Amino acid sequence: MTAPLPSKSLWRIACLCTLRSRRWERCYTIMKLRSDPVYAAVTQELAGSTLPVLDIGCGIGLLAFYLRESGYAAPIVGFDYDPKKIACAQSMVARSDYGGLGFMTGDARQGLPECNGHAVILDILQFFTLAEQTALLSTVAAHVSPGGKLIIRTCLRDDSRRFRITVAGDWLAKLTFWMKGSPVCYPTRELFETVLGGAGLKVRVQPLWGGTPFNNHLIVAERA
Ligand SMILES: C[S@@+](CC[C@H](N)C(=O)[O-])C[C@H]1O[C@@H](n2cnc3c(N)ncnc32)[C@H](O)[C@@H]1O
Repeated sequence: MTAPLPSKSLWRIACLCTLRSRRWERCYTIMKLRSDPVYAAVTQELAGSTLPVLDIGCGIGLLAFYLRESGYAAPIVGFDYDPKKIACAQSMVARSDYGGLGFMTGDARQGLPECNGHAVILDILQFFTLAEQTALLSTVAAHVSPGGKLIIRTCLRDDSRRFRITVAGDWLAKLTFWMKGSPVCYPTRELFETVLGGAGLKVRVQPLWGGTPFNNHLIVAERA
């Protein structure tokens, strides 16, 4: 397992949110990067690759900044339907010396930017209906190049206590206005095996709980 980035690197990312009005974004950034195991897990999956990355539902671009601090040098495109988050990501890039990062606004249900290589989807599938999840996964699979990976972090629907806690957390995020969308449908493991396996990708699913109470899993689908 790749070690998490040292505090110095995490602070370098958080300090890109320096404006007074963005103080909450700075606090959020450092807390999230310190506590969430997903950034180190994705970095480990991409280690050694030179393919571009498309980050779908990128939020304020934390994964892109984390990858740059980890030495990942290929182009990274972040895509999110919340214009405030994209504006924040763009202003962080403008204050940084990271090159090759682009952020754009758009709804993943209506198409994706042109970017072939790896693709990443972290924590957004629950906002989609089953039909939208199936369509998105099929479309994204076509963006994965030979040697590329589609890396997903999602809560899997099952009958565990962890699943119920995750649902409560997502509703809290909606009620506090942190998330624009309400959770609609949590995917099952079978969805990934059927849709991504059917698109010719080799699929592996593993728990990614870290120190959280959530039912998060990492799904890695690789094109040979
Ligand atoms: C829980 S946040 C995860 C942010 C980011 N992936 C991360 O891990 O730091 C989910 C993100 O998905 C975005 N999102 C939700 N539905 C979307 C859609 N249909 N198209 C694009 N982005 C979407 C939200 O705006 C939000 O930024």
